[in-house]
Amino acid sequence: MSNVEFQRQLQQRLAELAALGQRRTERTVDCLPGGLCRISGRELVNFGGNDYLNLAHEVSCSDNVREVFAGQVGATASALVCGRSQWHDRLESALAGFEDTEAALLFPTGFAANLGLISSFVQTNDAVFCDRDNHASIIDACRSCAGRMLVYRGDRLESLDESLRRRRGEYGQVFIVTDGVFSMDGCVPDLGLICEIAERHDALVIVDEAHGTGVLGEHGRGACDFHNVEHRVLARVGTMSKALGGLGGFVAADATTVDWLRNTARSQFFSTALPPAICAAMLESLQIVQSEPQRRQNLAQLTAFAHQQISDLGLQTVESCAAPIVPILLVDEESAVRISSLLMEAGWFVPAIRPPTVARGTARLRLTLTVGHNRAQLAEVLACVRTLVESHHTKCTTA
Ligand SMILES: Cc1ncc(COP(=O)(O)O)c(C=O)c1O
Repeated sequence: MSNVEFQRQLQQRLAELAALGQRRTERTVDCLPGGLCRISGRELVNFGGNDYLNLAHEVSCSDNVREVFAGQVGATASALVCGRSQWHDRLESALAGFEDTEAALLFPTGFAANLGLISSFVQTNDAVFCDRDNHASIIDACRSCAGRMLVYRGDRLESLDESLRRRRGEYGQVFIVTDGVFSMDGCVPDLGLICEIAERHDALVIVDEAHGTGVLGEHGRGACDFHNVEHRVLARVGTMSKALGGLGGFVAADATTVDWLRNTARSQFFSTALPPAICAAMLESLQIVQSEPQRRQNLAQLTAFAHQQISDLGLQTVESCAAPIVPILLVDEESAVRISSLLMEAGWFVPAIRPPTVARGTARLRLTLTVGHNRAQLAEVLACVRTLVESHHTKCTTA
């Protein structure tokens, strides 16, 4: 097949995606401090970003960060060659200190951390049980690892228990991997029960704390901290691209596990290390997370307020989710897309999430809250959603 023929095939497939309403288009957004953004020259309240603690702009102003950035942009090589600077070293120590683990290892992204960790742990005779709602990076890692991938439902943990009871004997090591916060609805899985099931069947637990780090738990370490199961989990994966306002993944675990990953996680050592200035900035973010717990407390209050408003307005959400990701379920994709674009005209950026990212029939608007938002904005945007839902006769289920 020639290049041109292949490109024609791609055009055909893109047209099929468009016909299904699943073709993605990119937009250019300037994210501004204080929970705002600018799109096509208009300032909007931004409910689409993950800068939960408002750190993305704040830490860029630090003298330290500016100085390191002025001296060097790229790390020039992978950590194992000569890309690991004093800033990487200091950040790994600070992350281990924050996470209260023996060690931590940096990765270029959270995606790379999941990929590297799962493919280096799960060997040929092993199995990995993966929640069906896990992030794409976990699913891709499980699909491509040497062992067997088995999918379970987080809302039916009794069936996870049952399949482990039936199948545990077939495998060498068994892992259970779950998001600490599910990014499409803000729900936190029952990690206490997952650990109990794992312990009953001699399995090891891995938790992806991408949306929990800095946000949940007494110490702000995430869902494991929230559920008080940190000591029962083998390794926690984190990303610095959300509440820490920067970039880069990490794994926090005991020294031996981290040493194994340093030796075997291909997405870590076959990729250029993070820019040193990012590491300097993330040190500042960690410092703020630890010294200003009121940020996450304010965010928790704002999240509770959003759920209360949604319930008062008769909109449908996913109940009792602790994280500051608030979905409004709208059933059909067209309504979600249309209401999102009308909200944009009214000054609110609230993305529509639709299949295949979520299951068919569960298209939604997703509001991601940050400490830059306030109650008045939330009350206003939710009232606006309610009006749009009513006036457009959507299939939205109201209470
Ligand atoms: C649950 C989860 N894990 C991992 C990642 C990937 O993190 P990163 O953006 O650092 O690659 C994301 C990001 O969207 C996520 O939501």
